[in-house]
Amino acid sequence: MAMIALKCPNIRVTVVDVNAQRVAAWNSDQLPIYEPGLDEVVRKCRGRNLFFSTEIQKGIDENDIIFVAVNTPTKTFGHGAGCAADLQYWEKTARLIHDCAKGDKIVIEKCTLPVRTAAAMSRILHSGRTQHHFEVLSNPEFLAEGTAVADLEKPDRVLIGADATPTGQKALQTVVDIYANWIPSNRILTANVWSSELSKLAANAVLAQRVSSVNALSALCEATEADIEEVSHAVGMDSRIGQKFLKAGVGFGGSCFKKDILNLVYLCGSYNLHEAAEYWRQVVVINDWQQDRFVANILHAMFNTVADKRIAVLGFAFKADTGDTRESPAIRVSRMLVEEHAQVVVCDPQALGNARHDLADLGDRVLFETDPYKAALDADAVAVLTDWTCFRELDYARVYAGMRQPAFLFDGRNCVDHAALYELGFNVYAIGKPARSHLA
Ligand code: UDX
Repeated sequence: MAMIALKCPNIRVTVVDVNAQRVAAWNSDQLPIYEPGLDEVVRKCRGRNLFFSTEIQKGIDENDIIFVAVNTPTKTFGHGAGCAADLQYWEKTARLIHDCAKGDKIVIEKCTLPVRTAAAMSRILHSGRTQHHFEVLSNPEFLAEGTAVADLEKPDRVLIGADATPTGQKALQTVVDIYANWIPSNRILTANVWSSELSKLAANAVLAQRVSSVNALSALCEATEADIEEVSHAVGMDSRIGQKFLKAGVGFGGSCFKKDILNLVYLCGSYNLHEAAEYWRQVVVINDWQQDRFVANILHAMFNTVADKRIAVLGFAFKADTGDTRESPAIRVSRMLVEEHAQVVVCDPQALGNARHDLADLGDRVLFETDPYKAALDADAVAVLTDWTCFRELDYARVYAGMRQPAFLFDGRNCVDHAALYELGFNVYAIGKPARSHLA
């Protein structure tokens, strides 16, 4: 919404939310999320044509177009628990729009939803005695965290799905015209609503599938002394495949991939497409396995015990340049290390607040440290779990000097210089690469 406000000074954008604290933060100098470049965009538009408010009913009443961006987490209860999307927030929002609207509205699904949700929403919006017409469109968001501003400014594509009816097509044109303010027309795709809804799930599933494919191969590399980076490079040079999203690591995290794949699994199952469901489920299975394998490798390398050993976890965010820790592999890895009675010290430049929350139940088995050198002091091992530039650029001679011997480094993101670290004296274990050990 901030990008729309920036690029379309004639459009007035109001963001409304039930959470007064978050709205206050959006209205302050300290935005509630860390996203490079976003502060500047918000600063330019806020108070001009971008407003943040808790007045939801007024927001609905006063605006012609409503983007619904509520969360749709994986259901934790009842039918479809652990797999299906929890649509209660979407449904409540639809009812609120129904109750507050005093005119026709274009209602846009911005959050990720199961295919055919728009039909249910349209039914709710048109229920009872309402005189108004609600046109439900799908406009999924493809931005990635950490690069959100660039992704919004120059998206690979914007996708808008609408009904083929005259009202659907008219609404579609209205939304196309908004994006046309800064996006070339060949990058604005239009589709039917169901294709648009499904494309979002499909894009995330295919991206995650690439990561799981390369991670599955990384295990084979470790067993055979092949090097996953060389394999990925060779595979990605095939122009039909491409180099992007073939980086092996400790596993994918983030709020979308796992949730959306499980949602896809549930959808396939509900249409009795069980083989397709199982196919996609394996993407998540491999991702969990990759994290378990990482911990198993730590244990094995450190003489099959980490009890009372200090392990510095460098990076807790699910990727660099974000403070977001949702589904971060660091959560599972840290928990497994604590189960093995290790003393875990978590260090991250932006995610320590979230990390404290995620691991609150582990008490003093986990410490939190802003300074990576202090985190690694007297540690037996360092595990790099997020590819932050600051961890890539550490003075590893200094890190090594402060550690207990033998010193181990486990690179879960293949982002540090393994040969140089080995030369310093570290025993280095990376993903999908032969181990560099002084102990063999
Ligand atoms: C993703 C999609 O990319 C985006 O289009 C969608 O809108 C939301 O979900 P995001 O979760 O923010 O975005 O980050 P992304 O860059 O996709 O990374 C997801 C995870 O995959 C991270 O944990 C990342 O470290 C991991 N990853 C990514 C790899 O392990 N290897 C890769 O090659 C790429």
